[in-house]
Amino acid sequence: MKFFIDTANLDQIREAHGLGILDGVTTNPSLMAKEGIKGEQAILKHYQDICTIVDGPVSAEVLSIDFDSIVAEGEKPAALASNIVVKVPMIKDGIRAIKWFTDQGIKTNCTLVFSAGQAILAAKAGATYVSPFIGRIDDSNWDGVDLIHQIVQIYRIQGFETEVLAASIRNALHIVRCAEAGADVCTCPLPSILGLLKHPLTDLGLAQFLADAKNMA
Ligand code: G3P
Repeated sequence: MKFFIDTANLDQIREAHGLGILDGVTTNPSLMAKEGIKGEQAILKHYQDICTIVDGPVSAEVLSIDFDSIVAEGEKPAALASNIVVKVPMIKDGIRAIKWFTDQGIKTNCTLVFSAGQAILAAKAGATYVSPFIGRIDDSNWDGVDLIHQIVQIYRIQGFETEVLAASIRNALHIVRCAEAGADVCTCPLPSILGLLKHPLTDLGLAQFLADAKNMA
């Protein structure tokens, strides 16, 4: 399973990249706004900055919702760097745009996916990635990871090549459960990635080893 970081914060991207386990980055308008990025030029510059840190796929989300505008908007970040993936919402014009980008050889990430039916449409349009939002499904009293299982199973049976990118990750257990469910990618906030490190027996064991090591000097 590939690890993407779900943030537009350059320091956090650098920190995750420094661990040596980062495969890519996803952003969304909320994450960009949180970093105070405003206006087309600043948005494009920010994607360029992210691409100087990371070689792997970087998802840049469009703000438009009609076909012509999605295409016009998505072509700009796609022209910046070969690792840019145009992130498009799961709407009718979004599906048309994903098919258009696919035909041009531009990679896409279909976002705001909450059902297996939506995931089938994204795959039929040729999306490179499909992003089911598992944390938001959990918030609505369903099990988001069940959807990952279902989509992975459908894609395997049908031979779809779209990668299942588990999004809206809220904690380390989500990452473990998505790995178990067969997700191709998990995009995670930095604290969820760092949460994978934690185990009290590791801390206790290390403290003991360091204490005993003093007797070896
Ligand atoms: O990038 C989309 C997704 O990961 C959003 O997560 O926590 O806002 O539901 P969240």
